[in-house]
Amino acid sequence: MDSRIPGFYKQDVDERRHSVAERANLAADAVAAIEGRGLDPVRADTISENVVGTLEYPLSIATNFRIDGEDRLIPMAVEETSVVAAASYGARMAREHGGFSTQVTGPHMIAQIQAVGVDDPFAAKQRVLDAEDRLVDLANEEDPVLVDHGGGCEAVQARVLDTDRGPMVVTHLVVNVQDAMGGNAVNSMAEALAPEIEALTGGTVQLRILSNLADRRIARARCTVPPEVLADDDWELDGTEVRDRIVDAGAFAGSDPYRAATHNKGIMNGIDAVTTATFNDWRAIEAGAHAYAALDGYAPLSTYEVNAEGDLSCSVELPIQIGTVGGATQLQPVAGAAMEILDVDSADEFAGVLAAVGLAQNLAGLRALVSEGIQHGHMSLHAKNIAIQAGAPSDLVDEVAERLVEEDAIREDRAAELVDELSE
Ligand code: MEV
Repeated sequence: MDSRIPGFYKQDVDERRHSVAERANLAADAVAAIEGRGLDPVRADTISENVVGTLEYPLSIATNFRIDGEDRLIPMAVEETSVVAAASYGARMAREHGGFSTQVTGPHMIAQIQAVGVDDPFAAKQRVLDAEDRLVDLANEEDPVLVDHGGGCEAVQARVLDTDRGPMVVTHLVVNVQDAMGGNAVNSMAEALAPEIEALTGGTVQLRILSNLADRRIARARCTVPPEVLADDDWELDGTEVRDRIVDAGAFAGSDPYRAATHNKGIMNGIDAVTTATFNDWRAIEAGAHAYAALDGYAPLSTYEVNAEGDLSCSVELPIQIGTVGGATQLQPVAGAAMEILDVDSADEFAGVLAAVGLAQNLAGLRALVSEGIQHGHMSLHAKNIAIQAGAPSDLVDEVAERLVEEDAIREDRAAELVDELSE
């Protein structure tokens, strides 16, 4: 499969769906789901509470991705203009030198068990650690299926926290959750161990819940980009200047949390759009990413350097808690189809793909920011939205939008005038 689809953006929606269905070998029901038979309200009512309807996003495909030597089409659902175009462009630049390489530490989640009112917290910590084998066995009794699949609780850690409410003993269960996101598995284990932890610590167990700071589940992606690929004929900057400015942008983020927040938001634009398209818990990934970024003072999750060949060397590292089994994906037919398009075989592979998408997104965003700015790219789609809001019929939308951009007057009043003029 080739993820380069020249002229994809110029095709209409039906043609694009056809191109993707053909390349991704989509089953007929997946194509039908994407075509518009989305989430049935009866099913929606089983996913959340007080359901009154369903909400749709555009489902887009980012092209050009090559990840660990394999081409992939990337489904993205996002309400923001330019995100999908930027991801595709970032992937195109990375492709020049073979695309992205990824590395994932393995699918380990942490569950926390909080014990309060412990008289001898430091000794209690040691009693918990002494009981590690028994605690691991008890935790694993909770999920024999996970254990049968090679996963399960693998270790116990214990910490003493000095809090505003006195010392607390916090036990961590480190659980290999295999191809699941793992939230339910680790929460059940933590709940099941509460009586045992109370007996060991002599305290009272209160919270029993996973940590979204999933620092035992780190995904990394990297790519290199030759400077000439970074340039644009319309700019006065050459490729090495663009490259150096991107390195400057990375350094700016590295020294300033105000900038690092936006820099990281750019990375998450890509990651969240894929997790939304596949109906996954993007809040968990967001929480983990920002907590990880803040471990030593809030910092950017990606870095930009110049390598010995003079290429831009780009890398990203963040916790990614995502699964390919369980979760809500299969409840939403369009998300199921998105997973077919993505074609990942394991949670680790999925996490690597997400890291690569985040890096592509960030790279393309920075390239625009250090040169023409991001508004330019936003404008043509924005102009189309303004034309539609001003009442342009579908056969006039493109023409009205082009005129608005040419005249540098992307306003509804001018769009309305143009609609009148062109309709005569
Ligand atoms: C916009 O959604 C994201 C950017 O602001 C990210 C960044 O500033 O790096 C372009």
